[in-house]
Amino acid sequence: MFEHARLKLTLWYLTIIMLVSGFFSLIVYRGFTKELGRGFRTQALHAVPGRIFVPLHSRFSRILPFVIYPDEIPPEEVYEIINLAKRRFTLQLFIINSGILVLAGTAGYFLAGKTLQPIEDMVDEQKRFVADASHELRTPLTAIKSEVEVALRDKKLNLKDAKTLLTSNLQEVDKMKNFFDYLLSLSRYESNGKDLPMAAVDLTQVFKQAVRRNEPLAKEKKIDIKENLAKVIVKGHSEGLTELISILINNAVKYSPEGKNISLITRKAGKRAVIEVKDQGVGISQKDLPHIFDRFYRADVSRNKTKTDGYGLGLAIAKSIVDMHKGEIKVESKSDKGSSFTIILPA
Ligand SMILES: Nc1ncnc2c1ncn2[C@@H]1O[C@H](COP(=O)(O)OP(=O)(O)OP(=O)(O)O)[C@@H](O)[C@H]1O
Ligand SMILES: [Mg+2]
Repeated sequence: MFEHARLKLTLWYLTIIMLVSGFFSLIVYRGFTKELGRGFRTQALHAVPGRIFVPLHSRFSRILPFVIYPDEIPPEEVYEIINLAKRRFTLQLFIINSGILVLAGTAGYFLAGKTLQPIEDMVDEQKRFVADASHELRTPLTAIKSEVEVALRDKKLNLKDAKTLLTSNLQEVDKMKNFFDYLLSLSRYESNGKDLPMAAVDLTQVFKQAVRRNEPLAKEKKIDIKENLAKVIVKGHSEGLTELISILINNAVKYSPEGKNISLITRKAGKRAVIEVKDQGVGISQKDLPHIFDRFYRADVSRNKTKTDGYGLGLAIAKSIVDMHKGEIKVESKSDKGSSFTIILPA
């Protein structure tokens, strides 16, 4: 598909360049033939003093627009000389234009490739995204389908079994809902981020709400959340910032063994707000660090060692929220030692 578009674009580039080149060649050609006529006249003027010039009203007048001297040079000879010069000049222009055609074709093909590359990358990314999203949705749907099929085949299905089935189905539906919520957040902050209202936001309030969202899981894992929050006001989108902090706290709790601590820190550094979320969890290996902000990326360790649920979308959303605020997000981590996420926002 893109090769076809590339060739088409090259053709457009070529058409434009050749039109411009052809136009200039015509102008140069016209100028050349005029100068040729002028040259002949000057030569004749200097050759015989007192010569009389007569205006030429013949087919030469197009080439020699001024005058000609029929007494000295026979018109046929002038015509021959001029025609030869014209032919040579036309050949030269043809060679130059052919060169331009080849060069413009090569450069145009290269440029078309460069122009289309970001679009091709974007389309590839979208395709990958649709494939990954479809895969994530297939899993709960397949589970629901097979459970219902088994239940329907069971002739002795009682109310208790039916309720167990419905509870399990509801869990799968919840997972799908969470997934759709994630997708909505991603599209909201990635594409429409610029249209979302920005206002003065108190980070203490943001942290309060984000902690509240993650309290049940933290309690379940006996994880203590330590807060060291200075009064910092930033210009931002309150809901987005709450989601950002909540994603980081959720990861910190999710990827920490029971009984560990999490520290939440906010401070001002000049005109910037600095936010830190630190944990003493499983950490992230050097191999995974460059990819954790990619959509659907989940490090192996989180699957194998801690067996946590997730889609690998949290940090992709976090990154788009930080980008929307023109901020920066950094991570430092060591396997089995813990991770520290730092966000810098313009205050
Ligand atoms: N605090 C952390 N400690 C250790 N690993 C982490 C931490 N935060 C993120 N990771 C790693 O980065 C990966 C991507 O995180 P992300 O939040 O995007 O997805 P997730 O937590 O797997 O799923 P979800 O979409 O539910 O958030 C995780 O799978 C995990 O391996
Ligand atoms: Mg997560």
